[in-house]
Amino acid sequence: MLTVKNINQFYGGSHILRDVSLEARPGQVTVVLGRNGVGKTTLLKSLMGLVPIREGSIEFDGKAIQKDTPYERARAGIGFVPQGREVFARLTVEENLRMGLAYRKAGTPIPAELFELFPVLKQMLGRRGGDLSGGQQQQLAIARALAASPRLLVLDEPTEGIQPSIIKDIGRVIRMLADRGEMAILLVEQYYDFARELADEYLVMERGEVIARGRGKDMEADGVRQMVAI
Ligand SMILES: Nc1ncnc2c1ncn2[C@@H]1O[C@H](COP(=O)(O)OP(=O)(O)OP(=O)(O)O)[C@@H](O)[C@H]1O
Ligand SMILES: [Mg+2]
Repeated sequence: MLTVKNINQFYGGSHILRDVSLEARPGQVTVVLGRNGVGKTTLLKSLMGLVPIREGSIEFDGKAIQKDTPYERARAGIGFVPQGREVFARLTVEENLRMGLAYRKAGTPIPAELFELFPVLKQMLGRRGGDLSGGQQQQLAIARALAASPRLLVLDEPTEGIQPSIIKDIGRVIRMLADRGEMAILLVEQYYDFARELADEYLVMERGEVIARGRGKDMEADGVRQMVAI
């Protein structure tokens, strides 16, 4: 579904991403691991069109999208959950969810299923985003991305700063979405145990390069834990 080939990205004179290639397939969770500052977020922003790439290609459903705007990529079916969540603090939960529908036809209802995935959001529809706990905000950010029914869901460190019980809930939702078989999931994560539990495929980045990749079930044997240990 998503095929990324040899992306190179620069911030000014700094060469950040070096020949990064990856694939994300329907029904699978592809996890990108790596320590702080190796370029994980820059990779996701490049995929979303939020930062320009200098070289390389990005194909989504067989179509080159590397010149498309972020809006066009979202419309094409890529949902993004940014690092740090970025929920609209002054908007209510309901309004935040409606923002996720901005790419769809006017009047498209919020899918009821979102409240089955994240029941807490239903109780909090009228609350402001900024009044939610960190974990609730993360669930809201995921639900907002899911509102537009993406075929590829991209998440940047969804467990960062979140309590264990909510991490479990988020993991369950990610697994369930993948197991339905239609959605591809690309997950950036530093929390090794969470990543290993979910990964069908993994990649490890270091200084902007992919230094290891393989099947999720081989992560332990491949020594990935040591590669990302701080
Ligand atoms: N807007 C920017 N301008 C210049 N350099 C940047 C910018 N954003 C990030 N960088 C640099 O690019 C490199 C990669 O950063 P990036 O945020 O992609 O890392 P990361 O792997 O997501 O880190 P973390 O795990 O802390 O989120 C870092 O050296 C960072 O300092
Ligand atoms: Mg990051």
